[in-house]
Amino acid sequence: MSKDFQHLIDLNDYPVSWWSKVIELGHDIKNNPQKYSDVCKGKIMATLFYEPSTRTQMSFQSAMIRLGGNIIGFDNPTTSSVSKGENLKDTTKVISSYADVLVIRHPCEGASKAASLTSDCPVINAGDGGHLHPTQTLTDLLTLMEEKGRLDNLTVGLCGDLKNGRTVHSLCKALSCYPNNQFVFISTEDLKLPAYVKDVLTVNNCKFTEVSSLDESISNLDVLYMTRIQKERFSSEEEYLAEKDTYILDRKKMLNASRDMIVLHPLPRVEEISVEVDDDERALYFKQAEYGVYIRMALIATILNAKTILPNLIGQTYIGVVCTNPKCITNYEDYLPKSFRGIGDIVECEYCDERVLLR
Ligand code: NCD
Repeated sequence: MSKDFQHLIDLNDYPVSWWSKVIELGHDIKNNPQKYSDVCKGKIMATLFYEPSTRTQMSFQSAMIRLGGNIIGFDNPTTSSVSKGENLKDTTKVISSYADVLVIRHPCEGASKAASLTSDCPVINAGDGGHLHPTQTLTDLLTLMEEKGRLDNLTVGLCGDLKNGRTVHSLCKALSCYPNNQFVFISTEDLKLPAYVKDVLTVNNCKFTEVSSLDESISNLDVLYMTRIQKERFSSEEEYLAEKDTYILDRKKMLNASRDMIVLHPLPRVEEISVEVDDDERALYFKQAEYGVYIRMALIATILNAKTILPNLIGQTYIGVVCTNPKCITNYEDYLPKSFRGIGDIVECEYCDERVLLR
């Protein structure tokens, strides 16, 4: 079943040295775009977007076109055979014979991992449910490098929907691999960071605090990463409305931030940053979105020229054991081999990282 390609499912599957190379390439592409204008000539990238997207999809498409390649794909599953009930395996299998790289966004957690098992070309995870978003993290890392000049010794505040925000999960996991980064997690009780992400920080000896007030924490930050409350991940409208306007960054709050704190946001912004903040020179979210094109150019070029590969599934199957995360792709697509990492009574689903009790 498994195919050998350099997929990007989770950044933490790769060593920091690999990320550094992609970031350095992104930096060079930003400064010398003409050098790269035909490095993907004759190649095709397919975008399979089962969930709405503006920046991720278009920046990938723009990136491939700027590298001299071509693009195909869908951004509305209702106009593809998905609406006829086709499973992810068949769609992926077929489109991977039409393209040289697949970029997949899907509402189920672990969907890109699942697609990578049967794809005949590399798969890039462009967001799998509330789980991970590694290419947004590469964008964020390039932005930090360009704008702060470093990826270490940073105090980063993350505010908003830390439970469902996949950009937050990927970014924290990545920044915890650099020395002396600290995190301030600013959220309501119900939207706190998942335990598995906190455990990664603990294993990497990263200091973090969990607080509820943005006002009280803003003055100590080098970076403030605002996020949208992820309406589509809530089970009811009432639950969403209860959380919706808890955190709003405005000009008044910015008065308490340091002169060199930068404000990032993966976008789309809803109400969590007042439009008046856009004119503040510390508001870098639009620039961040532009960096997304350079880093995706670097990523596509890297993956299409990759020599080294990673194993697909490294975990084990246990008879009768299934993932307990109702949003995990393995609970939607029956043919997928279940696979769990770790030893002992509690193991982790290899697709979505859910903790599962064996006995
Ligand atoms: C984010 C996403 O889709 O997870 N957007 C993006 O990719 N730039 C954040 C969000 O939707 O809130």
